Amino acid sequence: MEICRSIEQCRAAIAALRGEGKRIGFVPTMGALHDGHMSLIALARDNAEATVVSIFVNPTQFGDATDLEQYPRDEDRDLALLEQAGVEVVFLPDVDTMYPPGDETIVETTRLANMLHGKVRPGHFRGVTSVVNRLFNIVQPDVAVFGEKDYQQFLIIKKMVRDLHMPIRIIGGPTMRESDGLAMSSRNRRLTPADRVAAVVLSRALDAAEEQAKQPNVTVDDIRDVISDTIAAEPRATLRGLDTVAADTLDYLHGPLNEPMAIMISVQFSDILLIDQRVIQP
Ligand code: PAJ
Repeated sequence: MEICRSIEQCRAAIAALRGEGKRIGFVPTMGALHDGHMSLIALARDNAEATVVSIFVNPTQFGDATDLEQYPRDEDRDLALLEQAGVEVVFLPDVDTMYPPGDETIVETTRLANMLHGKVRPGHFRGVTSVVNRLFNIVQPDVAVFGEKDYQQFLIIKKMVRDLHMPIRIIGGPTMRESDGLAMSSRNRRLTPADRVAAVVLSRALDAAEEQAKQPNVTVDDIRDVISDTIAAEPRATLRGLDTVAADTLDYLHGPLNEPMAIMISVQFSDILLIDQRVIQP
C-alpha cells in the first residue's frame, strides 16, 4: 500500500496502476474509519481492479472551528485497517495541498446544496462538492463510492458529476448498522449508555414507516404520523427533523404515496444529533 501526501506522489502511484491496465475505484473519507467506510471500500474493490482511499478532514464543510478541531483523528489505526483491506493507494493531503493558498474556486449544486440539511448547515455541501471535485481531479477514478446514509450528499455528488460531464461512475453503498439497527457513525461513541440503547428508535421508526407504506391508499401524512409517534414514545429522544421527499429531486411530497420517497430524520439525544434515512417504494 502506497501512502501519498503530495499530489505528484499520488498521481505517479495511480499512473503506475493504470499502466498495468487497472481501473481505479475511489472512496473519499475523513478518516476515523468504521465498518461503514470499510463496506464502501469492499464495494470499490468489487467494481475496479485497484482502490484508492483519501483521508482528509475538509475544513470548508465544517460550520465552526470547534467542531472541526474535535473531529476524531486516528491515522495509524486507519492506515492499518486500509492495509488489511488490500487498498493500493492512500492519499493523505494537508490543507494547503487541497486548497492552494489564494485559491478562489468553488463548486456548488445551487439548488440541492441549499435545502434540507443544507439549510441547517449553510455552506456545508458547497464545501463537500468543492473538495470532492478537487479529489476527483487528482485521482481521476473510473468509479467512486459514497454511502447512502448521507443521502443528500450522495445525490449532490451524482448531480455534480452529471452536470460537469465527469467520466466517473458513482455507486451508492447501503448503510451499515450495529446489531440493533443503529446506523454506524463516529458520533455514536459520544452517546451515554442510556441514550445509546434509546437510539435504536431511529431505525425502528423507519421500519414502522416502511410497514405503513405497504397499506392500501397510504398517504405521506400517514407515514409521517407513524414516524413522529414512534419517536415520541421514546422519552430520551427529541425529533428535530422529518423530511419526506421525492427520492430523486428531494422535493417535498404530499398526498398519496405514488413514487419512491426518501425519508430523512434527525433525532437528538442530550447534545448529540443522529441522522438516518430510508428510501421507500410506493
Ligand atoms: P465521512 O463522514 O468520513 O464518510 C465517508 C463515506 O462513508 C461517505 O460516503 C459516507 O456516506 C459513508 N458512510 C458513513 N457512515 C456509513 C455507514 N454507516 N454505512 C455506509 N457508509 C457510511 O462523507 C464524508 O466523509 C465527507 O463529506 C467526504 C465525502 C469525504 C468529503 O469530505
